[in-house]
Amino acid sequence: MTQTILVVFGTRPEAIKMFPVVHALAADPRFRVVTCVSAQHRGMLDQVLAIAGIVPDHDLDLMKPDQTLDGLTAALLTGLGGVMDAEKPDWVVVQGDTATAMAGALAAYYRKIPVAHVEAGLRSHNIYHPWPEEVNRKIIGTIAALHFAPTETSAAALRAENVASDAIHVTGNTVIDALQWVSDRIVAEPSLASGLAELEARFAGKRIIGVTSHRRENFGGGLEAIAEAIRQIAAREDVALIFPVHPNPNVRRVMENALGNLPNVALIEPLDYPHFARLLGLAEIMLTDSGGVQEEAPALGKPVLVMRETTERPEGVEAGTAKLVGTETARIVSEIFTLLDDKAAYSAMARAHNPFGDGRAARRIVELLGNVR
Ligand code: UD1
Ligand code: UDP
Repeated sequence: MTQTILVVFGTRPEAIKMFPVVHALAADPRFRVVTCVSAQHRGMLDQVLAIAGIVPDHDLDLMKPDQTLDGLTAALLTGLGGVMDAEKPDWVVVQGDTATAMAGALAAYYRKIPVAHVEAGLRSHNIYHPWPEEVNRKIIGTIAALHFAPTETSAAALRAENVASDAIHVTGNTVIDALQWVSDRIVAEPSLASGLAELEARFAGKRIIGVTSHRRENFGGGLEAIAEAIRQIAAREDVALIFPVHPNPNVRRVMENALGNLPNVALIEPLDYPHFARLLGLAEIMLTDSGGVQEEAPALGKPVLVMRETTERPEGVEAGTAKLVGTETARIVSEIFTLLDDKAAYSAMARAHNPFGDGRAARRIVELLGNVR
């Protein structure tokens, strides 16, 4: 009998990590896949839908400028609940730790629909770092019937919370599937990632540092300290920083005020996934507070300095490709300068590892969904 699988997502990183699952489900006749986007993100979500070729069956179009967590969560619960009532799925699949994923799991639970959680078991053990994601994923972990843990570390975290072992499956992280898929697309069609040519020419001969930053817990002082670090790094003539700025007004305001007029800092619009993959290739170092970039950089052997105090992704740090540098200006600047000036320190980090998966996570997830009753 065909199973109806409702796949729910709403932000850029969820879309990137969920499209391999949607593709794999759609190719398998055992399933009827129904996609529902909350559009908690709009433009950044649409960039991923376009490259992945996904036209959602339901689009709640919920994003509001500078949305609050409670307003967003309330709208998500009723919106996603309505779609579940209409579609009556056998399973709801959510990914990660966003408001959309948490509300999707909760709305399914209210209807006693089983939930499968992609990227389960990530834990920082600090409910304010990252905020509100740590609690979102714990809520989902309490509800889910199937937990697709990306690594053995995340599986162990779930077992430590008394999740039944037979409900936990180590699949790898679907971000590696996504990165491999987009890299293959770029090889076949280089124009998909050729839009940085002008910047590449402008910064020819400079050492490129790629930057992203958007964490809610850093709003205010944290972001200002990060901006000041970038300003000090940019005082060096041998570097150029390419920074696709998250459209959240709390991020944009700070970065545009502090960095808007520096000759070797390019504040640009969010890049679509092929162009971001290109930036990952161009950069000598990534400087980020992003979750997904912490997973992609190790796969490419790209040193990544993580502007956070803790991480729920210790595998990159253990592999040596990622380093936690916090959000204080002086520390960020000195860690970047060490990587720029100390060849041994750089090569110690610049080794490709795949602690997060082998590119076959989505296939495993779909097999597991097919095997449960
Ligand atoms: C959300 C997730 C976070 C994830 C991040 C990835 C929650 C609570 N937070 O944070 O876990 O790491 O996405 O980027 O679920 N905006 C736009 N266009 C867009 C997207 C956002 O203009 O395409 C602006 C809007 O003003 C919006 C604001 O950014 O209100 C914040 O978006 P929101 O999804 O609430 O939070 P993020 O900080 O993006
Ligand atoms: N990314 C992108 N364009 C950008 C910046 C990031 O496509 O301009 C991708 C990146 O490759 C990663 C994901 O977006 O896969 C990370 O999203 P984000 O940092 O917004 O969220 P997080 O991973 O921290 O939840």
